[in-house]
This record gives sequence, C-alpha cells and structure tokens, in this order.
Amino acid sequence: MSSAAAPLRVAILLSGRGSNMAAIARGCAAGEIAARIELVLADRADAAGLDLARGLGLAAAAVPRAGFADREAFEAELRRRIDACDPGLVVLAGFMRVLGPRFVAAYAGRLLNVHPSLLPRHKGLGTHQKVLDAGEPEHGASVHFVTADLDGGPVVLQARVPVLPDDDPARLSARVQRCEHIIYPRVVQWFAAGRLRCDAAGVVLDGRPLAAPLVEDFDAVTT
Ligand code: GAR
Repeated sequence: MSSAAAPLRVAILLSGRGSNMAAIARGCAAGEIAARIELVLADRADAAGLDLARGLGLAAAAVPRAGFADREAFEAELRRRIDACDPGLVVLAGFMRVLGPRFVAAYAGRLLNVHPSLLPRHKGLGTHQKVLDAGEPEHGASVHFVTADLDGGPVVLQARVPVLPDDDPARLSARVQRCEHIIYPRVVQWFAAGRLRCDAAGVVLDGRPLAAPLVEDFDAVTT
C-alpha cells in the first residue's frame, strides 16, 4: 500500500499586511500546494498579517525586534521558534529586515523571498518610485532563494508588468502585488513537490539548471 508524501512544513516571516502569506496559505488549504504552514512570525506586534494568519487558522506570533539587545539575539530567537516547528522551507513574505549571515546559512537552500522588482534591477526599498523616476516601461516581482547577498540570491521566477502612463507608486505596487500572489505560491509548490532546489551550482527545476530566471508576462488587462 502506498501513502502520499507528508506535506512540506513551512514557516513564514512577515512584517506587514501578509497578503503573500495569505496567498500561499490559501494555496495550501485548496490542496494546490503540497505544504502546511506550521508557523507565521512577525517582527512587530502590530503587523496586520498576524491577525490575517490567525483568521486563516494558522499559528502566529510576534517577535518584536525591540525586545532584543542586538540582531544576533533577535535572530537567535527567530531561529529557536522556527526550528521548533522543523520546517523544510522558510518563506519571507514582506519581512522587512535584513537577515544576518548566520540566519541565512541556517536555512541555506530552503529560504525564499519575494522582492518587488525585476532583480537585479532595484534592490532595496522604494522600488516602485525608482521605476517611475527612471521612466522604465516595465516593472515586476522576483521570487528568489535568499543568500547573504541582499536581494542578490538566485532568482527562480519573475512576473513582468507594464508601467502605465497614469501610474503612481500605489497603483504600480498593487499591480505588482497581484502578480506576486500568483508567482510566489507557484514557486512554493514547485519546492514542495520536489521539483525545485538550489545548490552551489544555482537553481535546478525539474532536474535542469536554470540558466536565467523564468519570466512570466502579465499584461495591464490581467493585472
Ligand atoms: C510585497 O510586495 C513584497 O514584494 C515586499 O513587501 C510586500 C509585502 O506585502 N517585500 C519587500 O519589499 C522585501 N524587500 P504583503 O505583506 O501584503 O505580502
């Protein structure tokens, strides 16, 4: 008699609204992602994503950075809580802190992030304004493995959207986020299904090294 593989155990870290966390959680609940979210952690007690997570039936807790003397101590507590639920994957979903090398090394190859730009363009904050200021015709989001190089880890999948003439940062951000909610659950599912890994040589999908990130175009109508 064969039995289905146990779902991948996932921990999610966030700082804000939690819309990406919710998109992944809904994918898990719908059976579209072979994973189970064991824990949602936020670095601030007022993160709206905590209540959103609890409303989705998930265990959620705040670990406020202010309660720790330094980053090392803060990250040690994050790791203690994450490791207690023994996840196979740690998902950064709008976690707005730079993580130190020890934390990143602890989850090497099983730490994903979504960044609101077409990396390697526009690392860091304020990406939507940067795109508008530069007059660029396109923008997007990138799902990537996290390394010690900030916003520089190997990219798996990007969503590309057009920049429209009447865009402001809020409109552009909303368009990009709708795409994040499609591509991030998809990458998590690839990982959960054993189709995706990242090793010293880079990203491997379905047994083949990715020479470049996969890019999906979303036009102004669909977004
Ligand atoms: C997302 O748009 C994500 O790309 C961005 O934060 C937002 C979180 O939204 N992440 C970063 O800027 C990381 N550098 P959410 O809380 O609604 O998922």
